Amino acid sequence: MSISKKTALVTGCSDGGLGAAMVKALHDNNYYVFATVRNPSKAQTSRELKNVEILELDVSSKDSIARCAEKVKYRTSTLNMLINNAGCDFHTPILDTDIEKAKACFDVNFWSVIVVTQAFADLIIQCQGVIVNCSSVLWNIPTLWAGTYYFTLIYLLSFTCNMIIILLWVAQDDSTS
Ligand SMILES: NC(=O)c1ccc[n+]([C@@H]2O[C@H](COP(=O)([O-])OP(=O)(O)OC[C@H]3O[C@@H](n4cnc5c(N)ncnc54)[C@H](OP(=O)(O)O)[C@@H]3O)[C@@H](O)[C@H]2O)c1
Repeated sequence: MSISKKTALVTGCSDGGLGAAMVKALHDNNYYVFATVRNPSKAQTSRELKNVEILELDVSSKDSIARCAEKVKYRTSTLNMLINNAGCDFHTPILDTDIEKAKACFDVNFWSVIVVTQAFADLIIQCQGVIVNCSSVLWNIPTLWAGTYYFTLIYLLSFTCNMIIILLWVAQDDSTS
């Protein structure tokens, strides 16, 4: 069955979080939503909504991203909105930080966002869709415990600015060819 509505994909849609709330808002605004979670048993609220498809996606796994992208591409050739919402907190003063845990946080909050965006970029570009990256105003607020989590937010902001330039360039290239 082909999808006639506008489409959106949200990462990290576990019950009770911002992701699940965005799924509900998109659903209420007539979108067909791919609500993704790493643990499908945590998607009970989204499961009750019509035109919402629950898909498994662990953003820190390249295989999981590839499997999810394959399923979405089987259902649609365009994606009007990608919301990179999945993220993890990691607050410790930087001099006490376990670097392996910090790297794991960077993987989820920063590198995964790039890999997920790469996986869905062709669907987004196809319909001049929108990419939303969930950063935070916290990146700019200095505190003693403003460690790894805050650093990931700055990188995310920088990536987002870079994507604006890339998508503008792609749009301009399309209009002149
Ligand atoms: N809440 C705020 O005040 C606030 C403010 C600014 C920005 N943000 C950002 O907004 C986003 C959502 O915040 P929230 O408060 O709703 O956080 P949350 O309740 O902790 O939800 C985070 C979501 O990300 C998922 N996640 C974590 N690691 C994942 C992975 N490897 N693969 C797939 N999903 C993964 C979690 O899944 P599990 O349930 O399986 O762990 C959960 O669904 C985050 O990126 C956060 O940094 C939040």
